[in-house]
Amino acid sequence: MKEKYYITTAITYANAKPHIGHAYEEIATDVLARWRRVTGYDVQFATGSDEHSSNVEARARELNQPPQEYCDRMAEVFQNTWQALNVSYDQFIRTSDKRHHQAAKEIVRRVQAAGDIYPGHYEGWYCNSCENYYIETELKDGLCPTHGIKAVWLSEENYFFRLSRFARPLLEHIAKHPEFIQPVSRYNEVMNIINSGLKDISISRASTQWGIPFPDDPEHIIYVWFEALINYLSAIGFPDDMETFNRFWPADIHVIGKDISRFHCIIWPAMLMAAGLDLPKQVFGHGFIHLKGEKISKTRGNVLDPLELVRAYGVDPFRYVLLASGNFAGDRDFSEEEMVERYNSDLANDMGNLLNRTLTMVEKYCEGRVPKPPEAKDLTVMSDLSMMPELQWRMPEIWEELEKSTPQDMTLRKTAVNLYSMFDQAMEKMDFSGALAIVWNLVKQANKYIEESSPWSLFKQGKKIEGHDYDHVNLVMYNLLEVLRLVALYIHPFMPGTTPRILAQMGYAPEQKFEFPEDSYWGRLPSGQKIAKGEPLFPRIERDKVLKP
Ligand code: ME8
Ligand code: MG
Repeated sequence: MKEKYYITTAITYANAKPHIGHAYEEIATDVLARWRRVTGYDVQFATGSDEHSSNVEARARELNQPPQEYCDRMAEVFQNTWQALNVSYDQFIRTSDKRHHQAAKEIVRRVQAAGDIYPGHYEGWYCNSCENYYIETELKDGLCPTHGIKAVWLSEENYFFRLSRFARPLLEHIAKHPEFIQPVSRYNEVMNIINSGLKDISISRASTQWGIPFPDDPEHIIYVWFEALINYLSAIGFPDDMETFNRFWPADIHVIGKDISRFHCIIWPAMLMAAGLDLPKQVFGHGFIHLKGEKISKTRGNVLDPLELVRAYGVDPFRYVLLASGNFAGDRDFSEEEMVERYNSDLANDMGNLLNRTLTMVEKYCEGRVPKPPEAKDLTVMSDLSMMPELQWRMPEIWEELEKSTPQDMTLRKTAVNLYSMFDQAMEKMDFSGALAIVWNLVKQANKYIEESSPWSLFKQGKKIEGHDYDHVNLVMYNLLEVLRLVALYIHPFMPGTTPRILAQMGYAPEQKFEFPEDSYWGRLPSGQKIAKGEPLFPRIERDKVLKP
């Protein structure tokens, strides 16, 4: 049976439609989920909407809509957006789902049973936008340090969660599992918070009805963060379908933004410990997208709608450019100028030209078919002739022989065969731009290889590989096609719609399946296959098309 892999995003507040920062998290998580699928894992990928926040209630009131109806509409907006971005989630969990209500109540009961919930009086400052408590000194002139809005004074009889009890167990867990909090900047932040002391937190609200009722005390609803975190359990069947739940829990990774790491790295693991459940293996708190150096902010009109970008540039180019630069762990600036520049340089030029030029030459020099790679007999290497041609192509003697006569052809191949482990390691570290750079290095090298080997003159001269009865141009064309096949497979997690387009032009059937690492081996491209050169993949974009210049 396949190994399981459970991956989640944060669930988005339903008070506004998603912006490019939300898209960034969804797409990055999708890339990882897709990579795990092709490398043989049984993946569950969960995302969703966070509906019981006071912001959401306020927004619905503004629009004169019952909160539930408003949220139904927003859940559709989210799902349509993620589908338009080709985000391959398996579960879309809404916190108003019945299954989530059940899960949340069950966790509260378990934590109660463990003695970690008690009634008490709460008084303090609260920001309705972060749904977080603040002490006086954290506020700036009475304003929330994150959102710059007025904090409100809460004074209520509430239920409390005994968070303080978990400081030591948390530190022990983190010490034993140093990979739990990633990247290191988040780790340091979280350690500072724990080390400066954890206080018990209020986990109920009596001032509103919009939320999940507290078990056995329906006057209170469960505090939105305490409840929302539980979505990671409800999404995979807790508590009704314990078979599915036990297969996928604990999560392999929660992908979240840096602003909510204290909830995910402190409160959440403490809740799980109290409820007697395993902790997620890793929480990755990525950096933020800024637009031309500014924070994304609706009030400042500084937002980019991911759907507009998709309409203007196509979904795969958008996904590519979003992840091709910057560093997922840190903040990253994005602009439409960058979108256009990278589209033209990386996609139209590097990648589109490689495919186009190669296929044009295969038509001219190889009668439009994938040429046969050299076999042992062509190179007069001792071999067992009963051996499959495909295996012969991978025989080390052939490579040694070729290396002697055509070293530059072999350099390209070496780059290509070394790709898998480098790429996988980059993905493991959530280094998306690094993973793409590894692939683009091969693309660029292949373009250079065309210039250096000048297939047109090899063809014109009918050049053979020195000392052997094998047309050199066929080796060059095979190498280029094989590089293109590999590039098409590696970009799949990033540009899932582009892979079949490349493979189709190389003569593959549309339903062609592939898996790693097997298909990352050199020489899997069947010779004799008829290519089907088509339209350029990424026609150049002219500058005047920019949405907001
Ligand atoms: O925090 N760049 O929801 P949310 C990158 N409902 N990521 C960004 C971003 C930006 N500019 N702005 C937001 C919530 N994000 C809660 C989560 S999980 C149990 C509950 C990220 O809609 C943000 O960090 O404010 C978070 O991971 C996600 O988008 C949803 O943000
Ligand atoms: Mg937020």
